[in-house]
Amino acid sequence: MKILVTGGLGFIGSHTAVELQNAGFEVIIIDDCSNSSEKVLDGITSITGITPLFEKMDLRDKSEVQRFFKKHSDIEGVIHFAASKAVGESVEKPLLYYENNLNTLIYILQEILKLKYSNIIFSSSCTVYGQADTMPITEDAPVKPAESPYGNTKQIGEEIIRDTCKVTPNLQAISLRYFNPMGAHSSAMIGELPVGVPQNLVPFITQTGVGLREQLSVFGDDYPTPDGTCIRDYIHVVDLAKAHVVAMKRILNKNNKENYEVFNVGTGSGSTVLEVISSFEKVSKKSLNYKIVGRRDGDIISAYADTTKANKELNWKAESSLDQAMKSAWDWEIKIRS
Ligand code: WQD
Repeated sequence: MKILVTGGLGFIGSHTAVELQNAGFEVIIIDDCSNSSEKVLDGITSITGITPLFEKMDLRDKSEVQRFFKKHSDIEGVIHFAASKAVGESVEKPLLYYENNLNTLIYILQEILKLKYSNIIFSSSCTVYGQADTMPITEDAPVKPAESPYGNTKQIGEEIIRDTCKVTPNLQAISLRYFNPMGAHSSAMIGELPVGVPQNLVPFITQTGVGLREQLSVFGDDYPTPDGTCIRDYIHVVDLAKAHVVAMKRILNKNNKENYEVFNVGTGSGSTVLEVISSFEKVSKKSLNYKIVGRRDGDIISAYADTTKANKELNWKAESSLDQAMKSAWDWEIKIRS
């Protein structure tokens, strides 16, 4: 079975391509390499022994998207990762984000509806919940007004798919709402490659640990949490990748209950920033240079998933602990700097 992975050279996409190949699927990757590198293909190949088909293309080009799907009309499912993901940049360049993240989704939906199989998994985000009123967060928690154009593209993306599913019984879709992905493949052949100064906690920690950054700023220690720092649900990227494979199998095997479904993908437990730092110190046996600074604008206090629905319906559960995920992130950081 041929599965298209858009953005398949990116952080989550590349790990998903590996897990799809491990599960016996044939993978085709589309990526524009704007935030990734063709070298990632070598990493995928060295892990699985199979080089996925690859087309470098810009999904904003509608005629290119049409050409691609005409050529590959035997695609049975699409996992759509390709998107811009920098929250801060999205505030500066809203139109770029709406174009990149929504036009591409619309073009893909238009084309897969012409195929024999119209199956899609969409990369959504826990950002749709904003600061949820109760923890852990279930899929029924209300979607809050987005804090950024990036977050809004995830909300609107979900709505585009839901509305299309309503009038198109042939279309089978699942949105996966990711919590905080981290880590790397255990082989250290693929991992996260942030461009410039990392905005996310874990790559900033590992880059500080390896000496690339001088000091980590911890944004606020006066939140109403046990140690005063924010709580997030950090999920190993390989566990997240596996969730995509089971979600795709669910729709391919017609085990889905409705033609549009939503699942949280997290571990179900939250960690504070200071707990993440101590996990790093434990697995790296290094002490991290950090200091507490003021709160970061837009940060929510706490977000962790209720994963009951994914556990039951997808028969999927995150397997890695925070320490295991951190060890893989650290091994990867050391590997790319050596
Ligand atoms: C985690 C915690 C920071 C950096 C991200 C995406 C968001 C969504 C979920 C995809 C927070 C603290 C961070 C640093 C710090 N993903 N921190 N010092 O904010 O949960 O959101 O994941 O859709 O869109 O942006 O993740 O890694 O930035 O922050 O103290 O240098 O670490 O304040 O509490 P966040 P993050």
